[in-house]
Amino acid sequence: MTASPRLANYSDTPLMSKQARAIEGLIIVITGASSGIGEEAAKQLARQGATVCLVARREEELARVKREIDSAVDKGVGAAKGRGRSKAFIYPADLSDNASIEACCNAILAKHKSVDVLVNNAGRSIRRPLRESLDRPHDFERTMQLNYFAAMRMTLRLLPRMLEKSSGQIVNVSSVAALMSTPRFAAYIASKAALDAFSRSLRIELNDSGIAVTTLNYPLVKTAMTEPTKIYNYLPQMDVTEAAGWIVDAVKTRPARRTTNLARAFTVATAAAPGPSLQLLGQFYKRMLARVQKRITRAEQQGS
Ligand SMILES: NC(=O)c1ccc[n+]([C@@H]2O[C@H](COP(=O)([O-])OP(=O)(O)OC[C@H]3O[C@@H](n4cnc5c(N)ncnc54)[C@H](OP(=O)(O)O)[C@@H]3O)[C@@H](O)[C@H]2O)c1
Repeated sequence: MTASPRLANYSDTPLMSKQARAIEGLIIVITGASSGIGEEAAKQLARQGATVCLVARREEELARVKREIDSAVDKGVGAAKGRGRSKAFIYPADLSDNASIEACCNAILAKHKSVDVLVNNAGRSIRRPLRESLDRPHDFERTMQLNYFAAMRMTLRLLPRMLEKSSGQIVNVSSVAALMSTPRFAAYIASKAALDAFSRSLRIELNDSGIAVTTLNYPLVKTAMTEPTKIYNYLPQMDVTEAAGWIVDAVKTRPARRTTNLARAFTVATAAAPGPSLQLLGQFYKRMLARVQKRITRAEQQGS
């Protein structure tokens, strides 16, 4: 796995176990597995011998991911064993609909005796300035429904299986933006911050239960989610293979959190001195956006 040079400086804070555990044989539920980070993580985990339960809305994309996983396993790619036996199961569900979440969890629990890891990865992002959001409270409600309430519901429904075995892990996929606020993303950031707070509470309560809770606060990752936003092409973006590797590493070492060094530094700064650090951050984003905008204009002029 190659680290992108401009983004190489990541840190890990394993609190629970420094010993890597084997992935082979684990049953891992991954939401948002029809594209991006979730798809790639499912493939990497299956290659290392996990059975993966793929959840998302687009059934045909889930079927494609399943086919690709099965064919890689059949060809003996990576450490995966069990040729001819499927390593991937698909559970199409719309996680913005509570009845669909319930049906999805029921189907997973009926099919699999245990659930070793739940990766709450499905998510949506909304980029809109607050001044343009004044008549759009539904933006905040929609992001909250998928990024927080759906993850919370999946967790509450699958956790009892883990508690029965005194073993398991919840991996919640979040963003650096939940740690170092970004202008124009209030709806998205608030929903991921709720997920982060939920993770922390779970982790404390489940301390001695054998169940770990991990939060992954990603920087920008090059996926379908970032594609429509032109300015992202001018900013460093993590490669999706590397991003999926964070999930694989998290399952192996069960850290409390993984994020970038910059996000960690800002977490400390905003806790200690919120006024000055948010002001500084605001100025930093303003300057960065102005620089990127200049580059976009230049590129457009050269193109025309
Ligand atoms: N890309 C980034 O820069 C970045 C940075 C930080 C954090 N993240 C987080 O990483 C996670 C994965 O994002 P990605 O970048 O890989 O984007 P992506 O390629 O757009 O993947 C999003 C996934 O979520 C699923 N999804 C969306 N709405 C859903 C719904 N209502 N029900 C079920 N599944 C739904 C999508 O599948 P269907 O459309 O088939 O339902 C898709 O599989 C998200 O939680 C995102 O917030 C991304």
